[in-house]
Order: sequence, then C-alpha cells, then structure tokens
Amino acid sequence: MQQGDVIEALLKALGAEVVTLPEQFGARQVVDWSGLPGATPRAIIRPRNTDEVAVALRICNQYRQAVVAQGGLTGLVGGANLLNGELALSLERMNHIVEIDRISGTITVEAGMPLQVVQEAALDAGLYFPLDLGARGSCTIGGNLATNAGGNRVIKYGMMRDQVLGLEAVLASGEVVGALHKMIKNNSGYDLRNLLIGSEGTLGVITRAVLRLRQRPRAVATAWCALPSYPAVTTLLEEAQAGLAAGVSAFEVMWAGYYDAVLTNLPSLRPPVKERFPFYVLLESVGGDPVRHTQAFEEFLGGMLEKEIVADAALATSEADALAFWAIRDAPGEYPKFIPNHAAYDVSFSVSDVGDVAARCDMRLRERWPQALVMIYGHLGDGNLHIVVDVPGSGKTLHGEIDDVIYDVTREFHGSVSAEHGIGTKKKAYLGFTRNDADIAAMRAIKVALDPNAILNPGKIF
Ligand code: FAD
Ligand code: LAC
Ligand code: ZN
Repeated sequence: MQQGDVIEALLKALGAEVVTLPEQFGARQVVDWSGLPGATPRAIIRPRNTDEVAVALRICNQYRQAVVAQGGLTGLVGGANLLNGELALSLERMNHIVEIDRISGTITVEAGMPLQVVQEAALDAGLYFPLDLGARGSCTIGGNLATNAGGNRVIKYGMMRDQVLGLEAVLASGEVVGALHKMIKNNSGYDLRNLLIGSEGTLGVITRAVLRLRQRPRAVATAWCALPSYPAVTTLLEEAQAGLAAGVSAFEVMWAGYYDAVLTNLPSLRPPVKERFPFYVLLESVGGDPVRHTQAFEEFLGGMLEKEIVADAALATSEADALAFWAIRDAPGEYPKFIPNHAAYDVSFSVSDVGDVAARCDMRLRERWPQALVMIYGHLGDGNLHIVVDVPGSGKTLHGEIDDVIYDVTREFHGSVSAEHGIGTKKKAYLGFTRNDADIAAMRAIKVALDPNAILNPGKIF
C-alpha cells in the first residue's frame, strides 16, 4: 500500500483541472434523490476520458482510497452517496456522443451523457432510444447502466440491460475491460457487460457504451383510461396485448389515492376525465402507419368502453395531450413540493399477484396509521409497484416501521425488494428477503475477485 496523501498523488497525475477540492466545488450537490444523508468528499475527480478514469482508479487502489462514481445523482437508494471518507468520481465531463451508426442502429456515448440527450440524438438521426423515465433530463447513461434502470417502456423494449451491445469500464485496478463493439450475438465467455450492468458502481466505473437504437415509431397512440376495478385493469392489459397488433409500449397504472393526491397538490395538472374512479391506466401503443395505427387504437378503446372494461377514457389527439397525460404519471418528480418526508418503495411481483399485494399493503398501513397518505402506482406490465407513504406530522421517524410493513408483504408474496432502483444503502437490510445466502455469498466472491481492496463504492448492496 502506497503511503502519503492520495489527493496530492491524484493532483500530480491529473492536475487541478480534473481533481477539484471543496473550495472549488463549493456548495455543489453531492447526494442523490433518496433523501439519505451523505458526506462531502475531500475531492471530486472529474475525468475527461477513459484514460483519466484509469489513472485515477489505479492511484486510488494503490492508496486504498475508496471512490464513489456519480452520474446525475437522481438515484433513489443512496447508491451515489458518500458514507465515510470516499472521494467522488463524477462522469459529468464525459458527456459526448462518440458515434451514431444508422446501419447498425447504434449510438456510442460516454457514460456521463444525460438520457434525454441520447433520446433526442436518436430522434434527430431518424431512430429511437426507448428507455424512458421521469428523471430523463438529469440521469446519465452510466447511472442508468449501473442501476439497470427500467421506467415506462420496459413492457415493449426491456430494461437498460436490453439496450446495450458494447460496454467499456475501468476496474478498481485501473484496467480497462470490455469494448465498444456492435455485435448482437457474442457468446465468447463470461458476459462482463451484464455483470457490470446493475452493479451500482461496486465492480467498475462504466466509461462508454454502445447503445442499441430502434426504428422510430411513425405513430404513437396514447389514452388515459379510467377503470371500475382491479380485475378490469388486468383484463385491459390482457386485451391490449392480444388485441393491439402493434403491441403495448406503456401500461402505467395509478390507484385512486395517487391520482387524487397529485391532482389536489399540483395545480398544473389537469384531470383527463370528469369523474373520479378507483383505477387509471395510461395506455400507449407505438406503430408504423399513422392512419391505420390510430384507427386500430381507437377501435380497440371503443370496444373496451362498450364492454365496460374501461369506464371512461380520453384519447390524446395531439402531442400536447399525450404530454399532459404523462405529466400526471411523472408527478413523482414533484413530491419534494408537497410530501418532502415521504417513504418510497419499488417492489416487484408476478403480474397476477400485484392487485393482492397492493390491497394487503394498503390495509396494513391503514391499520397502523389511519391518517396515512398511501399512493400506489407503477409499471403493471412488468409487475412493478411503487408505493409512497406519508404519515402527516411524523417527519421521517416512521420510515423504519413502514419499511417493515412493505417488505414483510414483499416476502410473503416472494417478490423483489428492488424492481428497478437498486439496493444502495437503503435496502441493504432487506436484500435477504429476495436473495438467498448462496446468492449473496456468490456476489461477495465476485466483488472480492474484481475489487480486492474494496475501493469501489464500499458499503453498498451488501
Ligand atoms: P446516480 O444517482 O448518480 O448513481 C446511481 C448509482 O449508479 C450509484 O450507485 C452510482 O455509484 C452508480 N453510477 C453512476 N454512474 C456510474 C458509472 N458511470 N459507472 C459505475 N457506476 C455508476 N429509475 C428507474 O429505473 N425507473 C424509473 O421510472 C425512474 N424514475 C425516476 C423518476 C424520478 C423523478 C427520479 C428522481 C428518479 C427516477 N429513477 C427511476 C431513478 C434514477 O433516475 C435511476 O436510478 C437512474 O438510472 C440513475 O442515474 P444517475 O445518472 O442519476 O445515477
Ligand atoms: C417512477 C419511478 C419512481 O416510476 O421509478 O415514477
Ligand atoms: Zn418506476
């Protein structure tokens, strides 16, 4: 182990332009969206390229200096927060497009590139990058990869894992693994790419990636549906998957408690339907032929209204209408305005269990805290529920007890304590509810093999 001051060594190798000290970065944000506490780093390393990431990690490894990779800091589980004495390594300057290849249908980007910029660049090239989530303007491709982000279009296109062909990362030793290849098929040994995806910065720092682009949809049909019961919601899902020739690209469900709370507290939102109902679904289908696709979607919706599976519906007739529907679904970005102390969950189950899980969580929460605001919503096609709980006047003091209620139900239904946000520090205590001892031992063995000095994001996941 190297003796002396690691900051001096980093400054000598990379310069003050890359290694910034507290007097330079001042009051800059250094914690993620989880609301969990985080320490201020002694220095933030802001490399400009993969070589500089490699130099930084090699030096940190020699000095046994822990490092936390940071992207857009929109993570919801404390994964990017510093616990005790780590340095931050921000990818913010590695935010360039390396190449767009229309024939292969790929975009190659640096890991600090914001998701929305990738989406827009793909559209400009006449193609489409389907991953989408509320934090699109701030979250980065590196963060999306490190958390294997999901979001709104998983039902059709899969999670972040499914959008990647090539991936480059720097290990704790400073060695660069992976490559910027564009092969769809590549069975040449262990898949390091898929090991790094979802590893939350604990196995390597992701530096660049080749992302897969899809055909740009020529038609997007969007409807806001109000439904009378939970069985009607699952019937609508089945019918849409079977009956819409182009398939379902989003099926976002909101229980009445969510809809009522966001419409009451956020005056910019407009109700798409007149009455209040027990359930709402934002249904989207993307297709190829604008005329035929819209017509087929309207006919499908008409059929659902006729059969009284859908009680009322609003069809988007313009992009502005669709955006207004999505604004209701994206309201979680506004929680700090009206429930700054809320407890939030991201759990998943088999699709057939989701209704019972929601009812059991709601019942147990209300038994304990009758005055609680309970908001339930999520990506139903993926079996992914988000549950948000706010007990007025209690600040954050009840979070531990609310965790126990939600995660007990998760265990009873053999679900996952993290569908798409990751474990970070927030769910460490509950990892064993979803993964068995042998799983966790195998994860630890991988961690030790790739990062023997435990310098990469220590204290996260397990
Ligand atoms: P950060 O928060 O900076 O980091 C997240 C984790 O990744 C940390 O562990 C960090 O160490 C690691 N990391 C970051 N960059 C790298 C890198 N280059 N190499 C290695 N490790 C790295 N998530 C969903 O899945 N679906 C949603 O629908 C969704 N909606 C959201 C809506 C809102 C309003 C908000 C605030 C968040 C939402 N999220 C959602 C969570 C969040 O946006 C995602 O987890 C996102 O992928 C994090 O990206 P980031 O760049 O902000 O990462
Ligand atoms: C969402 C985030 C919280 O789906 O995952 O709104
Ligand atoms: Zn989500």
